[in-house]
Amino acid sequence: MKEKIKNLNEKKALAKLGGGEVRIKRQHEKKKLTARERVNYLLDEGSFEEIGILVTHRTTEFGLENMKFYGDGVITGYGTINERLIYIFAQDFTVFGGSLSETHAEKICKIMDLALQVGAPIIGLNDSGGARIQEGVRSLGGYADIFHRNVKASGVIPQISGIMGPCAGGAVYSPAITDFTMMVEDTSYMFVTGPNVVKTVTNETVTSEELGGASAHSTKSGVAHTTSANDVELLEDIKLLLSYMPQNNQETTKQLAYKLQDEVREVLSNIIPDNPNKPYDMHHIISGIIDADSFYEIHKNYAENILVGFARLGGRSIGVVANQPMVLAGVLDVESSRKAARFTRFCDAFNIPLLVLVDVPGFLPGTNQEWNGIITNGAKLLYALSEATVPKITVITRKAYGGAYDVMNSKHIGADLNYAWPSAEIAVMGAKGAAEIIFKNEIRAAKNPEEKWKEKEAEYADNFANPYGAAKRGFIDEVILPKNTRRKLIKAFKMLEGKKMDMPVRKHGNIPL
Ligand code: HXC
Repeated sequence: MKEKIKNLNEKKALAKLGGGEVRIKRQHEKKKLTARERVNYLLDEGSFEEIGILVTHRTTEFGLENMKFYGDGVITGYGTINERLIYIFAQDFTVFGGSLSETHAEKICKIMDLALQVGAPIIGLNDSGGARIQEGVRSLGGYADIFHRNVKASGVIPQISGIMGPCAGGAVYSPAITDFTMMVEDTSYMFVTGPNVVKTVTNETVTSEELGGASAHSTKSGVAHTTSANDVELLEDIKLLLSYMPQNNQETTKQLAYKLQDEVREVLSNIIPDNPNKPYDMHHIISGIIDADSFYEIHKNYAENILVGFARLGGRSIGVVANQPMVLAGVLDVESSRKAARFTRFCDAFNIPLLVLVDVPGFLPGTNQEWNGIITNGAKLLYALSEATVPKITVITRKAYGGAYDVMNSKHIGADLNYAWPSAEIAVMGAKGAAEIIFKNEIRAAKNPEEKWKEKEAEYADNFANPYGAAKRGFIDEVILPKNTRRKLIKAFKMLEGKKMDMPVRKHGNIPL
């Protein structure tokens, strides 16, 4: 850093880089790294090249004329992470609370433009008091310039936001548009309006942490895709997340070297319980299929009835979408549909093949769901999986009932290969409910209606609670033994490597938002 400013009065310049020692100490006391420490930790050693180090703000109002700091509260530049080019900006809370001035925004926009033109991921580390209050609309304009670029870059280059301090007001909308929002526990928060405004408008008393901390956003709102215990963990998580994605939408993720072995996984044979109503943990099936310890779960604590995340399969990066029978029996509801749809669209935009594991009893009934738009939200997942053109493979492990059968990457909406385990039940609904409806008269008329119902339930189950009807029609390509699933999938994804699909010309589709 010293070298870069050797032509200047060094001492003076250094004092003006960042907010000085006291403020750096304050940052450390809050258990936060400084912006420069974050950049240095995240990037490969010696790879960071700073752009715009000498930029200062142009404000003359409120005495700011005499308060200028080189860089103006944001470090911007490029470097490498595991030898891959990335662009980065890190807001420096030690300078005007990391607040965003016109020049601060210009610096961010400059590297966003470069990232988009070159085709490399952009990482934003947010730690800011929001719009630079002394600059008024110039600052608001700066935000909008960033948002506009976020939208332009969406689906072209991966965009990752680390929230490592305050992120409030309209500032939240840049991370919200990026692909992943990662928050640090206890030291970061995001909200459109803070606790004071909330108190004034709604008379609710709430702390910043309760309103917009990592816990709220990772469990209640779903705004945060991941949370990390501290700054270092978050930076490590960014490295890991990046490893699953390509540089841009024209490339595929680098495949790790892998040689096909026997791939039989006996452990998969004993996971599905004999009783179809008993839950099991879908994580065990995922880990039984994929390369060891390679599942990186997204939205881990939000809408837990569906699991989404990245994994490696035979060295290939894949996206996994899987019903989770452990939570609400794996039913699809408003939140889980939205969660899976967003993840699916990321994978599709960045050429990451999709594996969909199905054990779903249907959509969650009730006024709460209907009034909160299960129709529109369920349609999001249907739409996302339907429009995805990446290789898409389905494995039905147990239930695939009703509309949820269609939605969960069925053959009919464009899945390339559909497998089912012998334990699969593919039907309009569960045998008990089905028997009650279609044999209503017979059951009512019977001497012992309860017994009759059971008999009819068994009859229906015999006919439909299996994968063979669907296989006969070609809706299932093969009924496979659980232990052979990994081998089948490795071969199938390899076979699908060259998949290309032409879609009708249009400006864009109209996903039910
Ligand atoms: C200018 C700011 C600032 C801001 C903080 N500072 N936020 N300067 N503009 N937005 C300065 C403080 O004056 C202080 O300077 C230094 O940064 C550190 O701030 P502290 O308050 O001492 O830190 P802390 O106690 O940790 O509190 C952090 C904070 C608080 C919670 C973020 O500073 C705060 O509430 N700031 C204002 C937040 C806000 O209302 N922003 C506008 C939101 S509206 P000194 O020199 O005293 O150390 C918005 C609209 C965006 O952003 C719309 C986009 C479309």
